[in-house]
Amino acid sequence: MTSSMSGSADDVMVRALTELAACRPGDALATLTSGSHPEPATPTSGGGPAGGRLRHELAGYLAARHDSRVYEHPTAFRAFIDGGGNVELYRATTAQLAAAYRELDARTVLDLGSGDGRAVVAAAASLGDRAPRLDLVEPSAALLADASAATRAAGLTARTHQATAQEFLAGQDPQGGQDPQGGHDPQAGQDPQGGQDPLAEAAGRCRGLLAGSAGRRWDLVEATFALHAIAPAERTEVLAALRGLADTVLIVEFDVPEFDDRGPAHLTYLAQRYERGLAEYEGSLVARGFLMPVLVGQVDPGRVRQTWEQPAARWAEQLQEAGWHDVTVAPLADHWWAPAIVVTARALRPRVVRPDSALSRWRRQDGRPYGSSP
Ligand SMILES: C[S@@+](CC[C@H](N)C(=O)[O-])C[C@H]1O[C@@H](n2cnc3c(N)ncnc32)[C@H](O)[C@@H]1O
Repeated sequence: MTSSMSGSADDVMVRALTELAACRPGDALATLTSGSHPEPATPTSGGGPAGGRLRHELAGYLAARHDSRVYEHPTAFRAFIDGGGNVELYRATTAQLAAAYRELDARTVLDLGSGDGRAVVAAAASLGDRAPRLDLVEPSAALLADASAATRAAGLTARTHQATAQEFLAGQDPQGGQDPQGGHDPQAGQDPQGGQDPLAEAAGRCRGLLAGSAGRRWDLVEATFALHAIAPAERTEVLAALRGLADTVLIVEFDVPEFDDRGPAHLTYLAQRYERGLAEYEGSLVARGFLMPVLVGQVDPGRVRQTWEQPAARWAEQLQEAGWHDVTVAPLADHWWAPAIVVTARALRPRVVRPDSALSRWRRQDGRPYGSSP
């Protein structure tokens, strides 16, 4: 258990989360708004009385039945990653990706769950004329459009694929890969008058399918804060399939303690951590448009679940179960939710390891430095 678990939890919040976990959202709402705690914090300062802000936002979210699809309509998600501790988190993530591109001399990078591309695009752009060619896979059309615009603005060579990682790996890239820089026809499916040409559309889809997984390899496959969106059993299959696409995988995630799912310790952790997270944002946009749906999705079995988190050691084990070797785990940054970590692995054991490489500073799961054995 981390030291951060020692803080006091709001008993009312834990009770409300327990009721949500038992599929009693009405009781949870009644608990949150009960007379024993009549003064919900006014969310103007980003803070408020202990427990009050989270109770207030959760009650408001439960009462209003907000849309729980946080990435399809990403206004609140964008505001979330633009603010609070995420500014430093993304700075560290971008620096980490750029270091890996340099270390591997990566010419091609496949990024899964790219979101608006802020980490991968900034990292690639920082390499100037050594920037790798990017393939960005992202199911949200809105976020992928942002990512595509970002690659264009940065002058990068990139293809975008509107797909989940699973769809991409299955060669079912539904929209076809699109290259905003040319080289592949970004207008596939559009006639000069702006209408849809079914033949060209089909050709575009075909090119996309080939660009998906068939026979292609990348120097690096990476995912930042995206693989926790895939349920654990399916995630192992995804990780195994990735060995066919690249020799190196790099994952940025959170090191969340192991819990009995929805057990008392889990609900207490959620109550404590989301109270801290909320304090980093004013108003209710981020709270009700992103944080509350993600929180409730982890607790209420009747809601869409967005995240399946796990400890650093479990990320490493899961890569090994999926057939990856030389798994390393390194700390990346502190965060209100949990420490961020970088996990890397090789599809095959490397024959030559440069002892002074950045990778050598990362430790294996067994504690030995990377490269200490063949
Ligand atoms: C927390 S965001 C991280 C986005 C981006 N990688 C970043 O670092 O900002 C999680 C992303 O994973 C995407 N996602 C959700 N399910 C996915 C899946 N099955 N395959 C690939 N990406 C997925 C979401 O649409 C979202 O963009």
